[in-house]
Amino acid sequence: MLNVNKLTSLEEELSKASEKGMKIGLVPTMGALHNGHMELIKQARMHSDYVIVSIFINPLQFNQAEDFMNYPSNLLKDSDKLKNAGVNLLFNPDAKLIYPKKPSVKIDFGGLSHKLEGRFRLGHFEGVGLVVMKLFNLIKPNVAFFGLKDLQQFVLIKHIVKEFSYPIKLEGIPTVRGENGLALSSRNTLLSPSGIKIAAQIYKGLIWAKNNFETFHASEALKIQLNNFYQTQEGLSIEYCEVLNSNTFKPLKSLQSGKKITLCVAAYVEGVRLIDNIFLRE
Ligand code: PAF
Repeated sequence: MLNVNKLTSLEEELSKASEKGMKIGLVPTMGALHNGHMELIKQARMHSDYVIVSIFINPLQFNQAEDFMNYPSNLLKDSDKLKNAGVNLLFNPDAKLIYPKKPSVKIDFGGLSHKLEGRFRLGHFEGVGLVVMKLFNLIKPNVAFFGLKDLQQFVLIKHIVKEFSYPIKLEGIPTVRGENGLALSSRNTLLSPSGIKIAAQIYKGLIWAKNNFETFHASEALKIQLNNFYQTQEGLSIEYCEVLNSNTFKPLKSLQSGKKITLCVAAYVEGVRLIDNIFLRE
């Protein structure tokens, strides 16, 4: 595996791969790799010929300096995992390469970027959108892989690809969970063993909602019941819990409309912010 942190070397490798007619697959990450990332890489290996993984902790998508400082990172361990997984190239740029100067352009990605995650993490999606566009421009992948745990992010990136006419196919890969159901996330490493047990209740609530949502008419009633369950879990603090139309990501009032429905949750455990979601009706 090549470990590249300079643009010239990246460009050289990319032109070699494209001369050979190889299909380039990109897995953008912020490192602290877990089995969820490894699943993205597995899919990338299956659906492309040359797999690039980027590791860049993007300062622009953190709305709190403390969150950015505490974000887990372990480049040596990550690099070993990528080598063993058969990745062709690790792109590990520093902040100066991605942002030679403080970006003077701010792109507003529209309504979707201001709700849910965007509402509670101001500027988050402007940062995600910008770095993903930069990675797309630098790497020009044929296909890019994202985890569906960050569902709103995936929907937003789909929107960016369409609006900015990127010739890139996007693949959304289902969330990988631990045995207790907790969605794998780099942030889980910040939790204590008892924090992990508490965090696993997030998915327990989502499963309950999936099994019971059809007995409710209004999504408000479902949310009340779900919040009641979450409130009984000591150490779990829910930030939001929203029922949405899966296609438009607009809040859905009725659960009986026959539309595709998604339930998204954000919560804090031991000061660590976690998100998860489930498709209620697929
Ligand atoms: O999902 C992530 O890890 C990040 O938001 C991404 C897509 C790599 C952009 O920094």
